[in-house]
Amino acid sequence: MTAAIEYRDVSKSYGDKSVIEHLDLAVDRGAFVTVVGSSGCGKTTILKMVNGLVAPTSGAVLVDGEDIREKDQVELRRNIGYAIQGSILFSHMTVERNISYVPSLLNRGNRERTRAAVTRWMRIVGLPEELRDRYPDELSGGQQQRVGIARALAASPDILLMDEPFGAVDEITRGQLQTELRRIHDETGITVMFVTHDVSEALRLGTMVLAMEGGKVQQYAPPEELLRDPATDFVRRLVERERRRCSLPDDLLGRCEHSGAGSVGGDASSDLETIA
Ligand SMILES: Nc1ncnc2c1ncn2[C@@H]1O[C@H](COP(=O)(O)OP(=O)(O)O)[C@@H](O)[C@H]1O
Ligand SMILES: [Mg+2]
Repeated sequence: MTAAIEYRDVSKSYGDKSVIEHLDLAVDRGAFVTVVGSSGCGKTTILKMVNGLVAPTSGAVLVDGEDIREKDQVELRRNIGYAIQGSILFSHMTVERNISYVPSLLNRGNRERTRAAVTRWMRIVGLPEELRDRYPDELSGGQQQRVGIARALAASPDILLMDEPFGAVDEITRGQLQTELRRIHDETGITVMFVTHDVSEALRLGTMVLAMEGGKVQQYAPPEELLRDPATDFVRRLVERERRRCSLPDDLLGRCEHSGAGSVGGDASSDLETIA
């Protein structure tokens, strides 16, 4: 099977500063990859290489088996949803218009279809119908984040890139958004790359976890494998607190050496900053 996303010997430097070194990685279609690593290790860089916002210095990035340099860039980005932390909404547009920005371009003239798509996506991300005509500054942070996610998904992309999308919301909202996102992933089979600096979030959400340090892959494996068998000292330190706390969902708890210690959900305080 062709990988949804593939990095082939990708390196990136800014001036003489090397940021990514010889990255080889294949992301299977339908995978939910969480990318975790200390601040500045290159997480955002590898994400932006997928939709062409950053070009590798050497090597190639392939989407659906094709070098993205050979693809039509508008087409490429239309097929890749992109959600980042904080609000990137159009402040002069209502919720409806923000979400339908791309679909209405696609459904040119077919307002009925666009409206129906907006209704559907608002429901999926858990936005009440009455917010439809509000402007971004009339919404809470969590609601804005949901609109951003709905917009990223509304064009039904095959790939969803998310860069610390839940960083700015409170913990309850974050938990809800995580649940919604997992459900959307399960239902649509979309390929997700999700950057976070929260180790517990990475382990809970990912079907695969990509642990990075200093521009290099430390481990790329299912979450339970990072816990059971950390590939490097860095990964060991990364997951140590999680192993101790075992703040993992039930299906992973059983495989955790120190199981029985924690509760489902965990807390969001396992920031890399504090251990890396
Ligand atoms: N446009 C740029 N010019 C110069 N250096 C950059 C640029 N973008 C990112 N960097 C550097 O590349 C490194 C990786 O950045 P980034 O991918 O944003 O890290 P992360 O998302 O993991 O925090 C950092 O040291 C950052 O300062
Ligand atoms: Mg970043």
